Amino acid sequence: MSSREIEKTMEKLRAEIRRHDDLYFRKAEPEITDPEYDRLKRELADLEARYPELVPDDTPTRRVGDDRLEAFETYRHRQPMQSLDNTYSEEELREFYRRLVRLFGREDLAFVVEPKIDGVAVSLTFERGRFVRAVTRGNGIEGDDITRNVKTIHGLPHRLPGGRFPEIIEIRGEIFIGNDEFERINREREEQGLALYANPRNLTAGTVKLLDPKEVGRRRLRIVLHGLGYCEPRFFERLSDFHETLAGWKLPGVDRYKVANGIDEVWAAVEELDQLRHGFAYATDGAVVKLDSLSRQEEAGSTAKAPRWAIAYKFSAEQAETVVEGIFLQVGRTGTLTPVAALRPVKLAGTTVSRATLHNRDEIQRKDVRVGDTVVVEKAGDIIPAVVEVVLEKRSDKSRPWPFPGHCPECESEVIRLPGEVAIRCPNLSCPAQVRRRLRHYASRQCMDIEGLGEAVVDQLVERGLVERIPDLYDLTREQLMTLDKFAEKASENLVRAIEESKGRELWRLIHGLGIQHIGATASRDLAASFNDLDRIANASEEELLAVEGIGEITARSIAAYFSEKQNRELVEALRERGVHTRDAVAAEKRDGPLSGKTFVLTGTLPSLTRQEASDTIEAAGGRVTGSVSKKTDYVLAGEEAGSKLDKARKLGVAILDEKGFRELLGRT
Ligand code: IVH
Repeated sequence: MSSREIEKTMEKLRAEIRRHDDLYFRKAEPEITDPEYDRLKRELADLEARYPELVPDDTPTRRVGDDRLEAFETYRHRQPMQSLDNTYSEEELREFYRRLVRLFGREDLAFVVEPKIDGVAVSLTFERGRFVRAVTRGNGIEGDDITRNVKTIHGLPHRLPGGRFPEIIEIRGEIFIGNDEFERINREREEQGLALYANPRNLTAGTVKLLDPKEVGRRRLRIVLHGLGYCEPRFFERLSDFHETLAGWKLPGVDRYKVANGIDEVWAAVEELDQLRHGFAYATDGAVVKLDSLSRQEEAGSTAKAPRWAIAYKFSAEQAETVVEGIFLQVGRTGTLTPVAALRPVKLAGTTVSRATLHNRDEIQRKDVRVGDTVVVEKAGDIIPAVVEVVLEKRSDKSRPWPFPGHCPECESEVIRLPGEVAIRCPNLSCPAQVRRRLRHYASRQCMDIEGLGEAVVDQLVERGLVERIPDLYDLTREQLMTLDKFAEKASENLVRAIEESKGRELWRLIHGLGIQHIGATASRDLAASFNDLDRIANASEEELLAVEGIGEITARSIAAYFSEKQNRELVEALRERGVHTRDAVAAEKRDGPLSGKTFVLTGTLPSLTRQEASDTIEAAGGRVTGSVSKKTDYVLAGEEAGSKLDKARKLGVAILDEKGFRELLGRT
């Protein structure tokens, strides 16, 4: 390769890695498995080692990812949160050990070997024994303040017992969601026609960044603590002391750690962990080996990205070979076509696997997966299988690339690809597959909450032609329902009643239930709070929609596009004719008050009001509280230790109030 070509290859790898970093850290929607990601990084690192002159400063191999989002306060870690070097090879683990032996000039080094938890990194700060803050890793230097969400975790004491603790201590850990809870949430989402989370880690990453702690509380987050950040004054001699002390403080530590002397004991402990790990509540993808002595850790120091005193040995993901017996398309609620591989059933990490997602057209072309191919499958986060690669040596001469169909498998409509989107879609709104998904979504708990209208019932209603559009639900009679399988008189009556009751649901539920692209529960609430009338939303211009706090360009465009379609306006009209409420009576009253029309953002700690009290006061006076500062914000109510939101308010010239000013404002108006 010429140096120009090498440079190009490296740039391509860097772009690819950055894209996957963004998918993983910010969007919590990775497209590839961790081992695949590690392979990309390894490939880049190898090239960089050979051509150091071609390495820019900002290469992703030297930086940790970034999870920060606009809606959260950022907080600077007292001590940076670093990443770990990782390896899949025993030889490299031994090399890590030899480096430290050379550095300290002695063989008898003690290490702690503990599980590597596949969760979402968090740093907890305790001041004088009180839990004060939880922050994500962010870019390693500063992260998002997720304290309110972390406080929903059961079993995390807010005050350490006993009287012996450091003034200030940052404790590092991982937040995770157990497999049972993951399955429960996905089952619920499936019933509701929502996209499924690929694995517990993605679900966890999405959950810690939800804006509504109540919603977070509905998903059982858990936590396990493994590391020590800033600590003042010095409190521990060894990492093993720290682990020991966690238990005394009633904090959830790792399931098992072992002190190992010398590399052979280290290796034995690593292998033992590989055996034990399936019994832990969290997913483990490796072992972390750390120097036990904290003063030696300090002496060893770290590189820009990772400490020299620790390494992660990653267990190889369990892989299996099997044959692709077919490839089919799944049609989503908005018409997205997802290719799925039907596999010859194969045992993998304890379960039988017979399907794997192929994500989208680009992905299936990139991997060139064909029917009849032998493929290697792997479990990402030990849950959902993915096709890693095709075993080309086993490919038949007769095989042909899989042609992505030009037509929807359900309704034969010609498929389309919207500019700027990866997804291929079926544009036919009456496509039975879409109709089924839309109805399930409309009836789901997060929307109109129609009890008894589950998947099986919806499928039958559509199949028998009893329901084609959402309003048809309201015309169903008891007699019609009694013709369905397993539907006796009682069930039919109950369902008719549940459908009738749904007419009076809050406006945001109706908006959400329409299934407008990009409009989830939060945007629906924002729209309902701001317009309180579906007609006004339907008639709003893109600019008017954009003026709503929380509504960005993509959502505004999507809403405007939805209501520009005649059939969608007719649908709303048909719902109204059948008695579905398109306004909120209660909200209209609540909105009148001295602060009505004013938007507030809260930041920092107020001297006498809690956050909840401040929000309640604002809302009772007709105002609104939102998460992030923008030009549309009227006031930022700032307390002590206010962070980035205050800076942003200053930059944008938004009025800033302290508690006294806030009380004055209330009194004056
Ligand atoms: S120690 C200075 N120990 O894995 C960095 N990290 O891939 C020390 N992780 O950033 C990290 N389990 O978020 C450590 N037992 C464990 C861990 C662990 C999971 C995470 C952590 C780290 C990432 C690196």
